[in-house]
Amino acid sequence: MNAENNCIVIFGASGDLTHRKLIPALYNLYKIGRLTENFSVLGVARSDLNDESFRDKMRNALIKHEKASGEKLDKFCSHLYYQSVNTSDAQDYGKLVPRLDELHDQYQTCGNTLYYLSTPPSLYGVIPECLAAHGLNTEEFGWKRIIVEKPFGYDLKTAHELDIQTHRFFEEHQIYRIDHYLGKETVQNLLVLRFSNGLFEPLWNRNFIDYVEITGAESIGVEERGGYYDGSGAMRDMFQNHLLQVLAMVAMEPPAIINADSMRDEVAKVLHCLHPLSEEDIQNNLVLGQYTEAQIDGEYVKSYLQEKGVPEDSNTETFMALRCKIDNWRWADVPFYVRTGKRLPARVTEVVIHFKVTPHPVFSQNAPENKLIIRIQPDEGISMRFGLKKPGAGFEAKEVSMDFRYSDLSGASSLLTAYERLLLDAMKGDATLFARTDAVHACWKFVQPILNYKENRGRVYEYEAGTWGPKEADKLIAKSGRVWRRPSGQMKKKI
Ligand code: BG6
Repeated sequence: MNAENNCIVIFGASGDLTHRKLIPALYNLYKIGRLTENFSVLGVARSDLNDESFRDKMRNALIKHEKASGEKLDKFCSHLYYQSVNTSDAQDYGKLVPRLDELHDQYQTCGNTLYYLSTPPSLYGVIPECLAAHGLNTEEFGWKRIIVEKPFGYDLKTAHELDIQTHRFFEEHQIYRIDHYLGKETVQNLLVLRFSNGLFEPLWNRNFIDYVEITGAESIGVEERGGYYDGSGAMRDMFQNHLLQVLAMVAMEPPAIINADSMRDEVAKVLHCLHPLSEEDIQNNLVLGQYTEAQIDGEYVKSYLQEKGVPEDSNTETFMALRCKIDNWRWADVPFYVRTGKRLPARVTEVVIHFKVTPHPVFSQNAPENKLIIRIQPDEGISMRFGLKKPGAGFEAKEVSMDFRYSDLSGASSLLTAYERLLLDAMKGDATLFARTDAVHACWKFVQPILNYKENRGRVYEYEAGTWGPKEADKLIAKSGRVWRRPSGQMKKKI
């Protein structure tokens, strides 16, 4: 299904996300015909640009990021417009009214409007209110939807406040909270793997699964975002949103059907079952780390404290590892080990399901436990590890693997990127892959004790850039006789 006719209003149009992700995603959707000619994009920001200069900027970005050229590029750019607005001044939003009327008439978009808030979070409460002051939130003529980028709040309290503010002017069905992990094809594939195979689901519980490992590793540092990152840390930047969403996909109950409500009911339900962390749990089950300088492949890599925008005494974590549990029938007593960090040895996001070993060892040498490795990125795929007989005399078992690469599927080369998929869904009115308010709150509620611990300058261990985090993370999992997997960045090299 294609996008419905609509006008996309991007707040924060002169920012990085707009030219790096949003405009390229819209351009690609247009190129493959998922956006018909009946759309326009109105960039909004304080910068003093006009339609022409905005088009030039976006055209250059498309040439740079997408190698765009030719007639399609010209035609796409002719759909772009710009309006300078002081986004903190309600009165100034009045300028949008005639602009939008004109664009809806010209493109026959029936008043359908998608607002994308690609702005600092401090404006998330302000923009809905200012739009409402001019009636730009009402659905009298066409739908009005609003996309919000993470972070949805800074902690449990501010997330509640933000919700109250937004809900004063937009109803929940109009709010699309984007978590780009949910737009990743392989995260969605987790659902298909689980719920369309008779093989896995019967085993997908405490009776057969020993533990689950979720890794979101990045080899990059904080790059130019030191200022932002220092106020967030790995906990808010990756764990509270992306990794908890992945965990929910792994652990949720099957929805009766795949639609926005039943899917998101199950996601919220399982997130509400996360075992609340006491102070003692945090002492025993959480490890925070911060990278120090290193030489990697002959190149000097700065420490976190040397990064631009980071205070020299910062206690912010760039790594975290946590053992958590889910209090329900399916998962009682199954530990979920989750870790994420910057400046780790590889960029890799994966889920590993470790099955229980056989009840009695029969052979002189058994294979390790069966594992299902779900590689989310890069080199998306699935690998099943199991034991077979070592060729030759005797009965020794060894681990072998059955591998599936997502890129081998026909059609895989034309997959939509996360932003393409999510923007398209929002323009179709499908909120299935967007975070609902109750799930967001459940995540904040779960991490709040950790945020309190951080606030009180909880212990942050050092780890050398280019390593798998502090030694304490290994000790954390070793307490139960387990070890973290050491995945390489590529499936080819054997994950
Ligand atoms: C973003 C975080 O939400 O996700 C970044 O702010 C992080 O710090 C990024 O690098 C990771 O996304 P991906 O798609 O590269 O895994």
